[in-house]
Amino acid sequence: MGVVIAFINQKGGCAKSTTAVHFAQWLIREQHKAILVDADAQRSSSIWLESLEDKIPCEVAQTSQELLDCIPKLATQYDQIVVDGPAGLSEATKAILIKADLAVIPCQPTGVDLRSASDAIRLIRQAQGVRKGAPKAAVFLSRAVKGTRLKDEALISLKDIGVPILDTVIHQRQAVADTFGQGATVWDLLGSAAAESAEEFDLLFQEILEMSGE
Ligand SMILES: Nc1ncnc2c1ncn2[C@@H]1O[C@H](COP(=O)(O)OP(=O)(O)OP(=O)(O)O)[C@@H](O)[C@H]1O
Ligand SMILES: [Mg+2]
Repeated sequence: MGVVIAFINQKGGCAKSTTAVHFAQWLIREQHKAILVDADAQRSSSIWLESLEDKIPCEVAQTSQELLDCIPKLATQYDQIVVDGPAGLSEATKAILIKADLAVIPCQPTGVDLRSASDAIRLIRQAQGVRKGAPKAAVFLSRAVKGTRLKDEALISLKDIGVPILDTVIHQRQAVADTFGQGATVWDLLGSAAAESAEEFDLLFQEILEMSGE
């Protein structure tokens, strides 16, 4: 059975789609049999995947019914099912948490975003209560601005959140912001900024993959 790894957070713009697309691309590059499920009404990740040179399997499923039907089916055909969650803590997010093995919460290191991460964690806890402990959960800091103290403060306030915080921090870089418009991922772009982001994504995805297989 494939493992279902979902990026969720009701907060828009925290990098769910960016991380999901990069993770799917990374898995394919690492020779895994992976598919992305686009659960967001804006369909940005499925449109993005179509624009990439590598053909990465993708399925659009947006209602809770579609998600509950399609995720288990895909889990019989693929090794990893990467779910790009919608903004908002909707019925669709609840459906994703019923089927996920690992829920990963990207979180920007600011006060409002830390709050919304704790709302997402509450929802995960409710799912864990029903599912005898599943899904596993982790938070990582996304879009952190280099040289600010927000990151350190966020790490301190997340310590009490009761969910592991991944070691890798993904920093805010123009190279990452450019990827969607260029029909690319950071591995396709030239320059040292893209290479630094590529290295961060490598480390983050190793952590996520390890955690999903435990
Ligand atoms: N590390 C980064 N550096 C710079 N820009 C980033 C980074 N990660 C994401 N972005 C940009 O931030 C914006 C939001 O990212 P993304 O669409 O992945 O978030 P999302 O959580 O999927 O949002 P939504 O909830 O609206 O679907 C995009 O414009 C994206 O290019
Ligand atoms: Mg999105």
